[in-house]
Amino acid sequence: MVYKIRSKDMKNYAMGHPLNKLIHGCDYNPDQWLDRPDILSKDIEYMKKAGINEATLGVFSWSAYEPVEGEFHFEWLIEVMDRLYENGISTILATPSGARPVWMDHKYPEVMRVDTMGHRNRHGFRHNHCLSSELFRDKVRIIDSKLAKIAGDHPGLIAWHISNEFGGECFCDLCKEKFRDYLRKRFHNDIDELNREWWSSFWSASYNDFSDIEPPYHNGQNALMALKLEWHRFTTYNYADYISVEIDAIKEASLKKNVPITTNLMQRFYDIDYRELSKRIDFISWDSYPKFHNDYETYEDTMGESAFDHALLRCLKKDKPFFLMESAPAHVNWMDYNKLKRPHVHDQFSCQTVACGSDSIQYFQWRRSRGGAEQFHGAVMDHSGSTDTRVFKDVAHTGEVLKKIAQIEGSVKKNEAAVIFEWDCWWSIDVSGGFSRNTKKYDITCMDHFKSLMPFGVEADVISVNDDFSDYKLIIAPMLFLIRPETIEKMKDYVANGGILLATYMTGYVNENSLCYEGGFPGNGLKDLFGIINDEIDTLYPSDRNGISMNGETLTVKDYAELLRLIDAEAIGTYTDDFYKDMPAITCKKYGKGKAYYQAARIVNEDMGKLVRLLLSDAGINTKDLPSGIEYHARFTDDCTYEFYFNVGEAPAEVTGLKGSDILSGEEVNGSVTILPKRYIILRT
Ligand code: GLA
Ligand code: ZN
Repeated sequence: MVYKIRSKDMKNYAMGHPLNKLIHGCDYNPDQWLDRPDILSKDIEYMKKAGINEATLGVFSWSAYEPVEGEFHFEWLIEVMDRLYENGISTILATPSGARPVWMDHKYPEVMRVDTMGHRNRHGFRHNHCLSSELFRDKVRIIDSKLAKIAGDHPGLIAWHISNEFGGECFCDLCKEKFRDYLRKRFHNDIDELNREWWSSFWSASYNDFSDIEPPYHNGQNALMALKLEWHRFTTYNYADYISVEIDAIKEASLKKNVPITTNLMQRFYDIDYRELSKRIDFISWDSYPKFHNDYETYEDTMGESAFDHALLRCLKKDKPFFLMESAPAHVNWMDYNKLKRPHVHDQFSCQTVACGSDSIQYFQWRRSRGGAEQFHGAVMDHSGSTDTRVFKDVAHTGEVLKKIAQIEGSVKKNEAAVIFEWDCWWSIDVSGGFSRNTKKYDITCMDHFKSLMPFGVEADVISVNDDFSDYKLIIAPMLFLIRPETIEKMKDYVANGGILLATYMTGYVNENSLCYEGGFPGNGLKDLFGIINDEIDTLYPSDRNGISMNGETLTVKDYAELLRLIDAEAIGTYTDDFYKDMPAITCKKYGKGKAYYQAARIVNEDMGKLVRLLLSDAGINTKDLPSGIEYHARFTDDCTYEFYFNVGEAPAEVTGLKGSDILSGEEVNGSVTILPKRYIILRT
């Protein structure tokens, strides 16, 4: 069998060494309260009361550090770090480049972004900089180096946090020139090669020179799919290039060189291929704000989405725990409706985060600001200044839980199934000129496949086509629209060596430049692997339904249905309706020692289990007999497993066949346990 058991040491620490605790922390903005020593001293007292052991400082403190150009004030920072440290609270120190001081924008307007219509932004808001501006980079180098010199060897410092939630694009002339240079390299300085690869003879779009090329302005060239795709890649390249400026400045100026560096990432974030950014940082951290209690899905769905996001982010550095750098202790202020977290939800979500591989629970934010855009965003301390609040008590409870389960630190995941998620595939489907604008939903589709495994007690990794496939018994590759020849070969090897692979509709349509494969889809070698040719794809209206008949059951189909011709695969499911009734809809081909499945249509979530069951059984993955509403996760060390059972349903659920010690109560469990809604148990087995 292809699957190789990882024999590595099963403790691996986010920071590279144990902290001997799980981090319970918060974004802390003392610079908003420097004239209120009464508040600052209460902060420390109350942090201890809430079991907070880490504070993230300085995320947007540039104007407090450098109120006028060249005049620096770090005394307040060191004073706060000292006080935190004396009280057992560590610091993660951010570089302040998330927002610029007003003097900079007024003196050097080139640092402000230009939007997709070509208009330059004004000073204000945050994250609104041009990352190509050398002037901005120089200013960042100066402030970061000063900060690193002054605070880089502080005993309380456990990590660096670069900037804040990178995102957005800039369409200024500097970025335009940089894009052109990037393209010159990518296409070997050969404009004819670019014209060929971009199919630019379409609508008279051919370029005579690289200097003719413009970014895809909203009111500009939008008919070349490859231009739009490459612009996304360039944006990623520029972020990765930029983050190195900050990382180098910190590393060069710090006395202590080995303080790990991260940046706070976001949920399934579209603008940047996080895999490129992750190569530059030492550990993964991300900010999670699920839309709990919404009116369009169940709580179980929201938790499942959260599990998927954790898996995607965790697998950016697969063998390590990650940090949850931000979460809302209460509600947020930026959703359409900012609902309160219902009782027990904070506790369950925090523990789910740990179950999914986090060694920290951190909050945005410790204390609400009295003014500014986030004055009504939830915080551990709200405007009442009281610790006698529901939110404070919830947070303090999480602090207690994290203390009790500290032994989990450094334990890792060991999943046998994986779902492939690729950023450039996502972009390429989106920019492609076909299908429905509303139902492509690449990211949601990957998530739905991930979630379809969860009722079987199977958690998947979320991986790239560049990851090692031999770690997995089952790989699901939804909508792998853009595919490179090397991936096709890798998939064939994987299956030939015994892997079970599922691909779906919209697989293998285009190459890395968004050029369609010739000779029928899926592209080239994949027809041989799956034993099918996909001749046409039907895009359905939202209310249209078809069905697939498989093993005496019917699976409901929506949105997309491909019309396949069999080469040498077996049809294991056929359409039930329309003019393609009885044509193959799910196929399977034995290929070498494994099997390649093809799912030609989008199956509704409720019916995915009927297909997934088959795949898990073929892959020989052990499943769990879980009652409805129970979500399962596990973390491993060399000598034990931590099993997490969450009741995300509406009714009490009895989980049977349990054996181990309940690490929250300290009691031995042998048999069954009834878990109430929104509660959970953690067993050490
Ligand atoms: C993001 C930012 C924080 C804050 C929160 C509010 O995660 O990083 O600074 O604005 O959102 O939810
Ligand atoms: Zn720019």
